[in-house]
Amino acid sequence: MQKKINSAKGKTWSGRFSVPTTELVKTYTASVFFDKKLALFDIQGSLAHAQMLSEVGVLSQKDLKDIKSGMAKIKKEIETNEFNWSLDSEDVHLNIERKLTDLIGDAGKRLHTGRSRNDQVATDIRLYLRHELDNIQLYLLELLSSCATFAAEHFDTVMPGFTHLQVAQPITLGHHLHAYCEMFERDLERFEDCRKRINRLPLGSAALAGTSYPLNRQRVMELLGFEDISRNSLDAVSDRDFAIEFCSCASILMIHLSRLSEELILWMSPRFNFIEIGDAFCTGSSIMPQKKNPDVPELARGKSGRVIGHLMGLLTLMKAQPLAYNKDNQEDKEPLFDTVETVSQTLQVFRDMLADIKVNKANMEQAAKEGFATATDLADYLVKKGIPFRDAHEIVAKAVLNAEKRGVDLDGLSLDELKVYSTLINKDVYEVLTLKGSLHSRDLPGATAPKQVKKALNQTLSRIKKRLGQFQARASST
Ligand code: ARG
Repeated sequence: MQKKINSAKGKTWSGRFSVPTTELVKTYTASVFFDKKLALFDIQGSLAHAQMLSEVGVLSQKDLKDIKSGMAKIKKEIETNEFNWSLDSEDVHLNIERKLTDLIGDAGKRLHTGRSRNDQVATDIRLYLRHELDNIQLYLLELLSSCATFAAEHFDTVMPGFTHLQVAQPITLGHHLHAYCEMFERDLERFEDCRKRINRLPLGSAALAGTSYPLNRQRVMELLGFEDISRNSLDAVSDRDFAIEFCSCASILMIHLSRLSEELILWMSPRFNFIEIGDAFCTGSSIMPQKKNPDVPELARGKSGRVIGHLMGLLTLMKAQPLAYNKDNQEDKEPLFDTVETVSQTLQVFRDMLADIKVNKANMEQAAKEGFATATDLADYLVKKGIPFRDAHEIVAKAVLNAEKRGVDLDGLSLDELKVYSTLINKDVYEVLTLKGSLHSRDLPGATAPKQVKKALNQTLSRIKKRLGQFQARASST
């Protein structure tokens, strides 16, 4: 039986409670062991709040001074890992407030004037996410740069282009990799757009309805570098759509990385033997001495599942929550933190790995030769001589069947053999049947002709260069 004493005491909110929470409930409801990650952002938010409180005359100069010096001590303790986090204080906010009050007395208790943990935590997460997002965007830009540099080296390296994983038409490796550059650039745009909605200030919303203190929200916004203040207090303390949006952008990015991973894994298999990933990014087998496994792309492919899982978790967490704040929202942190860490690491390791891949050009070219990759070119050749495309398609299909039986590629058939299918075929057909001829003929913006690929990649690289300086400056300022 619970003892009926006022021993919920010690809790910041214990005034109205006569029975303490059980140890199990305490552990179940506490978040300090994961939300302490927000500590420095919590202090940053508190200092801005205190500064503003003193400016509007709610807090004395002396209190502000004490809060600043107390917070400086706490910050130092946290940074040097000496801070004593306690389960009894439930979460990061109450741990810091408790310590502040221990250090400076009543001024510590006045800090929370005009504020609730509801708008406090919403502010902390936004500060945290903005900071992490700026790092992530920088890593993504560096990965994009690494991918574009790799692609540019291979603007004219021939490889088979696939549909249905069957050889379709010859392309260049540069063209193939540029496709990923495009995906990563769109990912960057998505994150940039998402950042706008993260970068708004909830403080001043208090528990749900705002506060009667004459707070200057605009001032706190400026102090914390937010672009705007939230426009509805109920919404500001309760919705986590900015975190969901971030995880959704992160999921799309991880899907792109997982597609690239899949290709790298296939290309490194001895059947393809198109590439070799640097030793630093592979591991061996404990039983099969000959093995070199592409662990990094395999893990990235696997980790995409984890990030998508977090997105599903957050969506489900938010679903059907009535306004305004509910404790459900405490569960937003672990999936968000893990998404941030997973994406940050994956981007950095991919950035480095893409700079350490050897390409077996001869094997790639040989594979393009083996799959009748120039069949469409032969059909187009016939169309240009006046044969309707559907008939040309039929003629080429027969030629392919014959070549397949003989074990040669289309350009291995003699002119006489080709003429059997159409008398319109002349010597000049070999110009289109070669891989080079085929590649150079696809000379439209966005197409695979080396000239076009080079141009597209130069444009990508100059966009990257423009952005790199901006992103570096921003990542170091938040
Ligand atoms: N630890 C809480 C969270 O992460 C802080 C807000 C608590 N608010 C409350 N009304 N109990 O959501």
